[in-house]
Amino acid sequence: MAYFKVCSLSLLSTDKPKKFTVDGLDVLLVKALNDNKVWAFDNTCTHADKSLENGLWNSETTEITCPFHKAVFNIAENGAVKKAPACVSLPVYQTEIRNESEDNIVYIFLD
Ligand code: FES
Repeated sequence: MAYFKVCSLSLLSTDKPKKFTVDGLDVLLVKALNDNKVWAFDNTCTHADKSLENGLWNSETTEITCPFHKAVFNIAENGAVKKAPACVSLPVYQTEIRNESEDNIVYIFLD
């Protein structure tokens, strides 16, 4: 269990999740709309193991729609499935923003 440094906060947007590989795991990171927070979640859809990288992100509802079979997961609700065909929640990861050398750096916590 550890925090891993991912990127500068300035590399992230609120409207499209960006993919990173952290400790061998593909994750998507996106800035939250209303506060100084970053959402981080697994890049692999739990339905058929496809990438969510080109999925539709709704920054208002914090929902990601899989581009393949349209399953919907709510990231603020710990990756809960909101629409089939997925039936298993999407792993969501804790993040932290640290100010280092006059930059805001995003860290992710992995088990
Ligand atoms: S792979 Fe995501 S809904 Fe099927």
